[in-house]
Amino acid sequence: MDFQGKVVIVTGGASGMGEATAWAFAEAGARVVVVDRNEALARKIAGELGAEVWVGDVSDSAFCNAVVEETVQRHRRLDVLVNAAGIIVRARGEDTTDEQWRRIMEVNVGGTFFMCRAAIRAMKPQGSGAIVNFGSIWGDLGAAGVAAYCASKGAVHNLTRALALDHAKDGIRINAVCPGEVNTPMLQSERKEPVTPELLQRLADTVPMGRLAEPLEIARVVLFLASSQASYMTGSLVLVDAGFAAR
Ligand SMILES: NC(=O)c1ccc[n+]([C@@H]2O[C@H](COP(=O)([O-])OP(=O)(O)OC[C@H]3O[C@@H](n4cnc5c(N)ncnc54)[C@H](O)[C@@H]3O)[C@@H](O)[C@H]2O)c1
Repeated sequence: MDFQGKVVIVTGGASGMGEATAWAFAEAGARVVVVDRNEALARKIAGELGAEVWVGDVSDSAFCNAVVEETVQRHRRLDVLVNAAGIIVRARGEDTTDEQWRRIMEVNVGGTFFMCRAAIRAMKPQGSGAIVNFGSIWGDLGAAGVAAYCASKGAVHNLTRALALDHAKDGIRINAVCPGEVNTPMLQSERKEPVTPELLQRLADTVPMGRLAEPLEIARVVLFLASSQASYMTGSLVLVDAGFAAR
C-alpha cells in the first residue's frame, strides 16, 4: 500500500503493534509521528524510522491537542491517526483497585477519545482522514482476571462505532482492529506467574490456528483500514484473531 507523503500519527508507537504499525507506514512512504510515554524507546524507534516524536501521556487531553495541532501546523494536514497506546490490568473485578480502574479507563478510553477528537477537528476541514483504534477480542468477549481491561476495550469498540456515525458524511472513516493474542511486551506484562516458553505455548494452544500473532500481522490490517482500499468501511470492528472469536 502506498502512503507516500501522507501524514500519520501512531500512539503507542514505541512498542509492540504500535511500533510495527509505525514501521509499516514509514516503509509505505508516510511521514510518521510517534507518540508514546516511554521516552527512551520512543526516541530510539523514531530515530531509526526517521519519524517525529512526541513524548507524553495520551490520557492528558492538552497533550493530545498539542500533538495534533502542531503536526497539522507543520505539515498542513493529518491523513491518518492510529490509537495503539494502551495498558492492561490483570485482576479480577473484586481485586481491581480504584486507581487501576481509573487509570485503565483514562488511558485506554480517555486517551483514544482525546486523540480521536483532536484528529477529527483537524480532518473535518480537510474533508478527509482515517482513524484506526485498537480494540481487542476482549472488547466483545468476557475473560476471567481482566475485568477492567475488558470494560475498557468494550468502550473503545462502541466509541469507534459512534464516532464513525458522527462523521460518516465528513469524509472521515473510523474503524477498529481487534487483535487476538499477539506476541508483544503487553502479552507478557503484569503476569503473576513467570513468563516461560511453556506459558507462551499454553496461550498459543488457546488459539484455533495454534500460535500467537506477530505484531506485523496486525499492522498490515491497520494499514489496509487506513488506506483507500477500505474506502467503504467505517464503524467496523475487524477481528484479527486466528479464529479465536469464531467459536
Ligand atoms: N498484545 C495483545 O495480545 C493485544 C491483544 C489485543 C489488543 N491489544 C491492544 O493493542 C494495543 C497495543 O498493544 P501492544 O500489545 O502492542 O502493547 P505494548 O505494551 O507493547 O505497547 C503499548 C505502547 O503504548 C504506550 N503507552 C501506554 N500507555 C500510554 C499512555 N498513557 N500514553 C502514551 N503512550 C502509552 C507504551 O509505552 C507502549 O509503548 C493496546 O491498545 C492493547 O490493549 C493487545
